[in-house]
Amino acid sequence: MFLAKAYRTAAFSIYGFTHFTKSAFEDHAKKFKPEDTQIDITGKNCIVTGANSGIGFATAEALASRGANVYMVCRNKEKGEAAISEIRSKTGSANVHLEICDLSSLKDVKAFASSFISKNQPLHVLVNNAGLMEHKRLTTIDGFELNFAVNIAGTFTVTELLLPSLDKTAPDARVITVSSGGMYSAPLTSDLQFSEGNFDGTIQYARNKRLQVALAEKWAELYGDRGIGFYSMHPGWASTPGVDKSLPDFSNRFRGKLRTAEEGADTVVWLALQPKDKLKQGQFYFDRAEAPKHLPLAGTKYSADQINSIVGTLRSLCALS
Ligand SMILES: NC(=O)c1ccc[n+]([C@@H]2O[C@H](COP(=O)([O-])OP(=O)(O)OC[C@H]3O[C@@H](n4cnc5c(N)ncnc54)[C@H](OP(=O)(O)O)[C@@H]3O)[C@@H](O)[C@H]2O)c1
Repeated sequence: MFLAKAYRTAAFSIYGFTHFTKSAFEDHAKKFKPEDTQIDITGKNCIVTGANSGIGFATAEALASRGANVYMVCRNKEKGEAAISEIRSKTGSANVHLEICDLSSLKDVKAFASSFISKNQPLHVLVNNAGLMEHKRLTTIDGFELNFAVNIAGTFTVTELLLPSLDKTAPDARVITVSSGGMYSAPLTSDLQFSEGNFDGTIQYARNKRLQVALAEKWAELYGDRGIGFYSMHPGWASTPGVDKSLPDFSNRFRGKLRTAEEGADTVVWLALQPKDKLKQGQFYFDRAEAPKHLPLAGTKYSADQINSIVGTLRSLCALS
């Protein structure tokens, strides 16, 4: 058990050093086709969660600059308004809207989803970007461990509840979940809220990010036939306010070697713009290409029963039918 964990962490670190940095992005970008992202999406409706900062902000800006109506889901009104005015002035687009919602509160998430649905608007792209790595074991208003509440419960609930809006744009509809390369270090666990053993926020984050990849795969299986695409991706290592706050030592050590937020967002934007037949349902992407979901010999593979049981637990915890 200890050896397996140590191996996974070492394998992830080596893989990260060689693939996730800014220089790796620049190397991978030599194969990118500029025309893949020179696409106008005027009139398409896109929701980006956690859009006031970092990768979410860069994604919202990139989508707005290509003509989309962008709904920026932020928990803080002042930060959200500042982000919107920056995007409006940079892109010249007035079609950028603020939605206040704290993803750590099921009540907030359900209120946001039901308000969006009540507008009867088609939804083309949902970007599940909001996320955090909290090192202390904090409990939310719903009694959930905070990392789980935002990264999993909020993300799961908003996705499930927005399916009727996504149905309206099928077969173009897509959901893109921003996971993390950190997920390579974690197997799937049914201990969703880190109730067993000493709490470790970094491990909990990696477990959440593993589950996000498994959920995208499961959603693809459950709802792919409805014409909705589900993809997960990871941005590599990007310099953002979130990384500075959660991993200050890492941020200092890798100063100048981290990707920009725009580089971190590149694959999110690419996934939002590609014709669906170029993408593979339920797959995990990195730097505009399919990426493995598991590192060799890491022992992170799971069974269909495991993910089915977790989805059942999530439905019950989030009070979804
Ligand atoms: N940067 C990287 O190297 C990296 C690597 C792997 C994965 N990721 C993933 O990329 C995503 C974006 O992270 P980032 O690096 O861009 O960090 P960031 O700058 O901290 O952005 C995170 C966003 O999520 C929002 N958020 C956090 N908790 C929320 C809540 N309860 N309700 C609503 N919004 C909430 C934040 O809002 P506030 O500003 O109000 O806190 C912020 O807008 C995350 O899912 C992260 O796990 C990042």
